[in-house]
Amino acid sequence: MKIFLDTANIDEIRVAAKTGILDGVTTNPSLIAKEGKAFEDVIAEICSLVDGPISAEVVSTETAGMISEARHLAGLHDNIVVKVPLTREGIGAVSVVSQEGIRTNVTLCFSPLQALVAAKAGATMVSPFTGRLDDIGHDGMEICSEIVQIYENYGYTTEVLVASIRSPKHVLEAALMGADIATIPPKVFDTMFNHPLTDKGLAAFLADWEKAGDAVTGAVPAGSD
Ligand code: G3P
Repeated sequence: MKIFLDTANIDEIRVAAKTGILDGVTTNPSLIAKEGKAFEDVIAEICSLVDGPISAEVVSTETAGMISEARHLAGLHDNIVVKVPLTREGIGAVSVVSQEGIRTNVTLCFSPLQALVAAKAGATMVSPFTGRLDDIGHDGMEICSEIVQIYENYGYTTEVLVASIRSPKHVLEAALMGADIATIPPKVFDTMFNHPLTDKGLAAFLADWEKAGDAVTGAVPAGSD
């Protein structure tokens, strides 16, 4: 499963990128707005830090506007994937720009049928928002799993990008269902490295090593020659 970071914060991206396991980054207008910096500067900086798909979202709501924004954004850097909302107008735009070779991430997807139309329009990725579905009493992961199934049934190449992840359990479920990508907020990303038994085990290994001293490090005792 590919791992994307779901943030527009440069410091968070820089720290996560150091692990070497980051495959891409997703942003949205809310995440960009939080940073208080110019959109294109933020996107350029992210592209310089992570060599993988970087989602940058259009803000027009009409098909023509989305098409022209998509062309502009895609021209900024080879790694840019244009995020387009899953509206009727957005699907119209994806149908056009996907024919031009522009990669798209169809976002704000909340149902398997929406995901079906995204795939038919030629979307590169579709983003079902699992946490927001859970928030209104639906089972977000069930919907993600139905999308995976539909795409398998018909051999669609659109990648399922599980978004709106709120917990490590969401990441686990995405991996178990065979989702192509999970976009993970930094706080959840950090939890993936940790286990108390790893810390406890490592502390014991190092204490034993320390106790054994010269016998294991091979140090020559002073005055032995
Ligand atoms: O990038 C879009 C998505 O992951 C947003 O998540 O937590 O705002 O529902 P959230």
